[in-house]
Amino acid sequence: MYSEKIIEIFKNPQNVGYIKKPDAIGKVGNVRCGDIMELTMRIEDDVITDVKFRTFGCVAAIASTSVMTDFIKGKTLDEALLVTNNDVLNILGEVPQNKIHCSVLAQEAVVSAINNYRLKQKKINKTK
Ligand code: FES
Repeated sequence: MYSEKIIEIFKNPQNVGYIKKPDAIGKVGNVRCGDIMELTMRIEDDVITDVKFRTFGCVAAIASTSVMTDFIKGKTLDEALLVTNNDVLNILGEVPQNKIHCSVLAQEAVVSAINNYRLKQKKINKTK
């Protein structure tokens, strides 16, 4: 069902874990399959200097999050928002049709984390 590339990334995922006291947290899930992704980020001067993920889900979800986190590490927040699930799919190669949404979930996790960060920044700026 899965390509060799997906299995290879799944077996050796990058950026797995949780950043303590993160600057941003993104958590998303898919109600149909029940998979959950959580991203934590360290952000300095609008640049994602570190990102870790914990994905409770399928092989494609874990491989997608691994690829996505590799893509966005070192990027500015605006640049990270331009990375799409299609970029992830291009790396993964052949993905079963019913697993495309796993890559979408990875993109949503990034958006969720960045929104979380920007909301916190707004609140901090209001109190200044
Ligand atoms: S099956 Fe739903 S995220 Fe993979």
